Amino acid sequence: MAIQARTAGEMYEALRERLHDVVPDFELAHKAEVAFAVNRLKAERGAVILGHNYMEPALYHSVCDYTGDSLELSRIAARAEGDPIVFCGVRFMAETAKILNPERTVLLPSAKGGCSLAGAVTAADVRRLKARYPGAPVVSYVNTYAEVKAESDICVTSGNAVKVVESLDADTIIFLPDEYLARNVARETGRRIVLPVVNEPAPERAAAAAADGVELAVVAWRGKCEVHDQFTVADIAAVRAQFPDVFVLAHPECPPDVVEAADFAGSTSAMIREVRQSDKPRYLLLTECSMADNIIAEAPGKEMVRLCSVRCPHMNEITLEEVLASLRENRYVIDVEPEVARRARRAIERMLEVG
Ligand code: 13P
Ligand code: SF4
Repeated sequence: MAIQARTAGEMYEALRERLHDVVPDFELAHKAEVAFAVNRLKAERGAVILGHNYMEPALYHSVCDYTGDSLELSRIAARAEGDPIVFCGVRFMAETAKILNPERTVLLPSAKGGCSLAGAVTAADVRRLKARYPGAPVVSYVNTYAEVKAESDICVTSGNAVKVVESLDADTIIFLPDEYLARNVARETGRRIVLPVVNEPAPERAAAAAADGVELAVVAWRGKCEVHDQFTVADIAAVRAQFPDVFVLAHPECPPDVVEAADFAGSTSAMIREVRQSDKPRYLLLTECSMADNIIAEAPGKEMVRLCSVRCPHMNEITLEEVLASLRENRYVIDVEPEVARRARRAIERMLEVG
């Protein structure tokens, strides 16, 4: 929750109490002034600020009215009051908020805010897959742009992918664009993976078998998260050799062998909850590094081993300074073409109904 401070000095004291182990004081003094200005402008404009778990610690702890993973933020975006909605995350998340709130202004504080997964598949790719696997429901990760969601039957996030796939009454499903998430979900739901070769005319044998009801299949796509793709089983082994008591948490966007070698896999919020509930002294988080800082701020007694050479360049573009500029200059306004938004909304709402 956002810090309610009457002066920039009060904001500094409140931030210092939470972040003294994470952010140097001289930087906090600067961040506190910006955060104070953001909260004042937010109140003047009647705005609401949503922040993904990956946001930098000073931003995450000072100005966000709501924080969470993609699923939680989709739910919150559907009901949170405030206009404009300032989305501290990446573009596909802000688009989801816009799709759910067509009448409201949604601002993304970065002109880019991309995502290697969302950029990996187009609406034309989905139409080709549908032509190739007629009748197979299209399950799209929320890390996709609106045009792809509009071609989809239902969305998923890392927090509900298994539940959504299990809710579908179909032998063959199309699941895109994250190949690793698809593989991780296929393993958990007892389905076989099919990776279509683009431009190949006939369906693969496995898909044909699935169509006959012989086999359950997930037709996947070759998208990868440029961050989680970098973690390896060797990284885990090296950290375990140095810290034998370390508890390893991996995001399901990591390669399947990494997920299997970890002690826990789940969405960003599921990882946070796991650390919160656990009494182990030391953790390795295989995900964007800022999240470990945010956990340290909440649980100073727990040690987070970090692999911070691996960062999400897109999430890292969102800073307190950019949020202030976003509110001052009303930038960058997210627009989704109404008919695309209408069709995409169906897929998102179906997901929210499943849970
Ligand atoms: P979560 O839905 O788990 O927050 O993940 C979003 C994301 O982009 C992870 O890289
Ligand atoms: Fe996209 Fe990966 Fe960054 Fe998440 S961490 S926003 S999936 S590039």
